[in-house]
Amino acid sequence: MDMFVVRGGQPLNGRVRVSGSKNAALPIMAASLMADGPVILHDVPRLVDVRTLAQLLGTLGVVSERQADDSLRLEVIDATPIVADYELVRQMRASICVLGPLLARRGKAIVSLPGGCNIGDRPIDLHLKGLSALGADIRIERGYVIATAKRLRGSRVFLGGSFGSTVTGTCNVLAAAALADGVTTIESAACEPEVADYGRLLNAMGARVEGLGTPFLRIEGVQSLSGAEHDVIPDRIEAATLLIAGAITRGEVVVENVCTAHLSAVLDKLNDVGIRIGISEDSAGSDRSTLHVLPTADLKPTECSALPYPGLPTDVQAQFMALLSRADGISVVTDKVFPDRFMHVAELVRLGATIHREGQSAIVNGVDRLHGACVMASDLRASAALVLAAMAADGESVIRRIYHLDRGYERLEERLNALGADIQRVEDSAENVPASLRLTQPAESAGLLTSTFNSAAIIKLENGRHVRVDRPESALPTIGGSGSSANHGVTR
Ligand code: UD1
Repeated sequence: MDMFVVRGGQPLNGRVRVSGSKNAALPIMAASLMADGPVILHDVPRLVDVRTLAQLLGTLGVVSERQADDSLRLEVIDATPIVADYELVRQMRASICVLGPLLARRGKAIVSLPGGCNIGDRPIDLHLKGLSALGADIRIERGYVIATAKRLRGSRVFLGGSFGSTVTGTCNVLAAAALADGVTTIESAACEPEVADYGRLLNAMGARVEGLGTPFLRIEGVQSLSGAEHDVIPDRIEAATLLIAGAITRGEVVVENVCTAHLSAVLDKLNDVGIRIGISEDSAGSDRSTLHVLPTADLKPTECSALPYPGLPTDVQAQFMALLSRADGISVVTDKVFPDRFMHVAELVRLGATIHREGQSAIVNGVDRLHGACVMASDLRASAALVLAAMAADGESVIRRIYHLDRGYERLEERLNALGADIQRVEDSAENVPASLRLTQPAESAGLLTSTFNSAAIIKLENGRHVRVDRPESALPTIGGSGSSANHGVTR
């Protein structure tokens, strides 16, 4: 297993290109199960998740072949397999995207339930509700969804749930509706750009989907779908992560291949925080732009809520929290899509942030400086947040379990290093932990612990607002009888 050793403190500087979208590419790859001919996808990122899905599709009779550029060619050579095995599905939740295509094209699908994960429960009841509405017979046995339908029939489907609609669920129902008899309408469909991209691929294959990008979709079923060629949209989550990388290090970064239309909520929030970003369209009428993050000394606190699109994406909530941990004041970060997605809080605190959780929100009390520490990634976007915070921190950090990061970011450390970061990928072992992070008793630990406690100012709720109260010096812990009076002053 690998880990990162990050030497923080340098502002990033330079140009970086955003890759194709992981969350668009995965369901789109699964849609190739329905095509009577090759599907050629351009700008497919080279990620562990993409390889995992290609492997799963391989067990379902699809041959995938990488081409010289970032293209991927997928072709069905055996249309009989119908079982998506637990061993592969458990590695990646997006594997559930094979359910709709298998059912629609092969009449039966046996797909392992993906299970929960570190960001929440993640049920698939809405996927199953939608497929049932189209006439599928569905039962759960021994941890597998078994779905059968001799012929799917168009129907009216409502896909709203307690936390909004469902992204991959909308893709599954779209796939089934594309090959159903008659017309399907989906109400409260997910409006995420990745769902619209999925619909565009289906239309390129001969489907008839209208209303893409809106919560109301109309699908006229067709008899068969052909092969197609498709350009995957740029990854809006990676774009946001790179913009925040520039901002959090007070650097100057030019981010290329961005669909600004997909990033309105992110850009609006960065503007609230005081980040200045120049935008230039790549060519007249193009949907791609180049964004220029200018150095910003003072970050302002804000309140932000992760919401379904077009709101702020839950997939950038952790990265925003890292950024706000350096803002001058108190911010509130809420997640209304995955209300338990806060595993990164404790790790950001290890890096010197002052954050505490209250229900589905985290209260972030900005600090002047973050400091290096050993931390552990809990999921894909949490690991990105830790990389951002570690790059902004003084000194060295170790980030463990970076396999989460590799699932969703292509060569992130190489690309950040090209911008001036100092991130080394090394084997996860005690010897590779830098000496600065291997504390010995008692002198060094006393000093470090004192400054950490100093950063933990008390936050109180007064008249409905969160206010910071500096911890009185007398309340600071004394360790080994020294260091308590040396206030290293990391609070503001
Ligand atoms: C997709 C993204 C993921 C992103 C998420 C929300 C992919 C491969 N992954 O995941 O990166 O964080 O959208 O934008 O595209 N829910 C139900 N019942 C269901 C399905 C979902 O209650 O049947 C709930 C979920 O628990 C969650 C919310 O709805 O609270 C949104 O989930 P969903 O849009 O389905 O997420 P995914 O498609 O799994």
